[in-house]
Amino acid sequence: MENRMCVGGIAFSKLSFVKEKYGSDGLNKMLEKMVELGYDGPKRIDEIKLWDWYPFEYNILFLKAYYSIFGESSFRRMARVVPRLTVSKTMAAKWPKNPKLIIGNACNLWKRFFNFGELKGEIIGETSARIIGKDIYVDPIFCKFLTEYFTGLLESVGASGVMVDHTKCVHRGDEVCEWSITWKESDAKVDRKIAWDSSLVTGIDEIDRQHRYFVYILNELNESFNENYRDRIIRALRFMDRYAHWHFKSEEKYMELYHYPDIENHKKQHELFYQYTRSAMEKASRGITPELWYEVNRYLIEWLISHIKGTDRKFAEFLISRNLSMPEEKMPSSLRKELKL
Ligand SMILES: [Fe+2]
Ligand SMILES: [Fe+2]
Repeated sequence: MENRMCVGGIAFSKLSFVKEKYGSDGLNKMLEKMVELGYDGPKRIDEIKLWDWYPFEYNILFLKAYYSIFGESSFRRMARVVPRLTVSKTMAAKWPKNPKLIIGNACNLWKRFFNFGELKGEIIGETSARIIGKDIYVDPIFCKFLTEYFTGLLESVGASGVMVDHTKCVHRGDEVCEWSITWKESDAKVDRKIAWDSSLVTGIDEIDRQHRYFVYILNELNESFNENYRDRIIRALRFMDRYAHWHFKSEEKYMELYHYPDIENHKKQHELFYQYTRSAMEKASRGITPELWYEVNRYLIEWLISHIKGTDRKFAEFLISRNLSMPEEKMPSSLRKELKL
């Protein structure tokens, strides 16, 4: 047990919560109780370093003290608020507002916060998932905390009707801890799977045909939070690099041919995309993290929406207004093969 550690942020966020909700008196009561239970760590919040390692036992003592002072229902409320204080503040602000994605991201983060065990998220359906905790056995109160924590985590990204069931527990003799999670559809729209719809249609068939691949790869990225997400992101980045090159050249060829007046600006936008793809590949070569994955995903979604709906549509309108067309451009077979299309 002594070797189990967690980062200071885990303890810090909860102590701050107590201070905010119950004032200095509440905080002192908590610390007294914790000391009574065997706590020998920092006595002041500002002594705790967010990213230093502390015995995980402190966290358990905190939970026990909290439960005994403030009772069951306050404990549950506290556990539901914690995701907003820890994960959300530091990272989830940049994360997609999507329950399915947040589960994968949160599980991946476990290893940064704890030096033992692991959490694995499995998406079962559009609105259901399972989280499996291996070797996180510590104390039943931690299971109780996590059950509420997962609820709060999903609620923090806009999911409603969240139900979390602690279906397997090592304290009940199971080999792993498992939570089954269901929710109703989230009201967040921006990061959902992108459907090809009329808002993306430019009116030039060939441009639209080529753009469908962007949507295809974006959706692939959106499903890459589970196992193999590393492989998938590498494939996606290669796609962006190779495919973008082919597609942009194809558009630019006709801009030149038809003396499109806004060609320089349009080319510049393509260049920015190349640059981003290259820098993301470079970052990926140094290590693929959930944050990088999310950053790429977000960039692509924003780019897709703004470039296709703005810049490309403008070019398409130019073609349409002059009755010009773009013939079908065959994708090189090497590219098709490489992209497994
Ligand atoms: Fe385009
Ligand atoms: Fe374009």
